[in-house]
Amino acid sequence: MILILLGPPGAGKGTQAQRLEDKHGLIQLSTGDMLRAAVAAGTEVGRQAKAVMDRGELVSDDIITGIISDRLDQPDCKSGVILDGFPRTEAQAEALDRMLADKGMKLDAVIEMKTDDKVLVERITGRYTCAKCGAGYHDKFLKPKVDGVCDKCGGTEFTRRSDDNAETVKSRLNAYHAQTAPLLPYYRGKGILKQVDGMAPIDEVTAQIEAVLKTI
Ligand code: AP5
Ligand code: MG
Ligand code: ZN
Repeated sequence: MILILLGPPGAGKGTQAQRLEDKHGLIQLSTGDMLRAAVAAGTEVGRQAKAVMDRGELVSDDIITGIISDRLDQPDCKSGVILDGFPRTEAQAEALDRMLADKGMKLDAVIEMKTDDKVLVERITGRYTCAKCGAGYHDKFLKPKVDGVCDKCGGTEFTRRSDDNAETVKSRLNAYHAQTAPLLPYYRGKGILKQVDGMAPIDEVTAQIEAVLKTI
């Protein structure tokens, strides 16, 4: 199965993708996570991406589609993937159609996580991640069971993203509305666009996504 989670920064794509990975054995392909790994490793791609990401703008389509195409060729992706943060432009969506056709794969559904912009800054500025296993948390909306200890791996160190400040969030939101939202009619036209209420509590969003999966 190939799914796209589509929504603005802070919509909950990463949160729900981790749950789908745990429950259904799908692989989360987050282009944001891949770029952050490239930045941390100091690769050429990471060097090019860093400044763009810190401005809250989009990294070039060529870099992104190359990364995704290579990743889809790896054997673990055969069991199915959740695309989190990709595609983000019409050029990326068209490149994805071509690459899936070439690889003999098929896109099953695009799930739009509908959210109001006004909640997103609070979600993003309160977000943090386990430094050891990558599990995501929130200061207010998703705390670990024991304060300061990761539920998943017991890790006690956490990180915050350098682009998670109120100012950068504004440009990321602008990029979403200008470049990514036009993908909604693109996928509606293909008859594969589904919607969930991204404003609902996290468990409720998970339940809505599960209900969508049953229809596929
Ligand atoms: P990326 O890492 O993809 O960031 P993003 O799209 O801005 O999305 P986020 O990761 O911020 O949000 P999310 O929807 O995953 O929310 P989360 O689940 O964490 O991209 C970063 C940058 O990389 C881009 O700006 C760009 O420069 C570059 N890039 C990446 N992909 C690219 C591409 N394809 N093309 C070009 N450039 C690309 O949730 C947020 C917080 O809210 C969490 O703390 C969570 O606990 C909480 N939360 C989640 N759901 C709920 C809920 N229902 N109620 C309350 N709280 C909730
Ligand atoms: Mg994310
Ligand atoms: Zn952890």
